[in-house]
Amino acid sequence: MKKDLAQIVVTEEEIRRRIAELGGQLTELYRKIGAEEVSAICITNGSIMFAADLLRHFELHVRLDCVRVSSYKDEDRPVTEPEIIDQIRLDLTQQHVLLIDDILDTGGTLDKVTRILRAQKPASLHTCVLLNKKRRKQVRVKPDFVGFTIPDHFVVGYGLDFAERYRNLPCIGVLRPELQNPPNWCAARKEDQPSSRR
Ligand code: IMP
Ligand code: MG
Repeated sequence: MKKDLAQIVVTEEEIRRRIAELGGQLTELYRKIGAEEVSAICITNGSIMFAADLLRHFELHVRLDCVRVSSYKDEDRPVTEPEIIDQIRLDLTQQHVLLIDDILDTGGTLDKVTRILRAQKPASLHTCVLLNKKRRKQVRVKPDFVGFTIPDHFVVGYGLDFAERYRNLPCIGVLRPELQNPPNWCAARKEDQPSSRR
């Protein structure tokens, strides 16, 4: 899978170290505000790997729920408004809520989900994203915690996908240009196999 990358943007080791730091900072924050328990809400599927690793650094009780949002539909840029496909089931009233996402791009997803969470009147609401893309946001949102700020490239790995592939890549990188938005992803990769090379 790594050979499909044109460039590695964040290594496995950098991810591991930064997540441990973020876990410490978040534990500290919740200690300061007197929270004994946190309700973590992950935006799936992209934040699954990040949330799983981050939450294991928390030294307090965690309730976990997911909200499924989609706007990419197998493309490398949003093709629709973020759409909530599966709702949160936890009651968040008077709870300390942490919203976790993989990447902040246009800001549309985080904006939409924070509005939904705020409507439940949590005791506190913080946001944490692993990656923040350096580009003008279409929606003004400022995450409370950011793992890494990266250039404006379409990236995959560590939860982030292209057409549902590459989520299990342990690092984060940019796909080779010929693999971005091919008319048929599988066909583009087959051409790359040694058996089909002339
Ligand atoms: P936004 O709504 O434009 O901020 O986009 C946020 C969502 O789009 C994230 O939750 C990701 O699932 C997806 N996304 C944005 N940029 C990328 C990328 O570079 N690679 C993979 N997914 C991305
Ligand atoms: Mg995605």
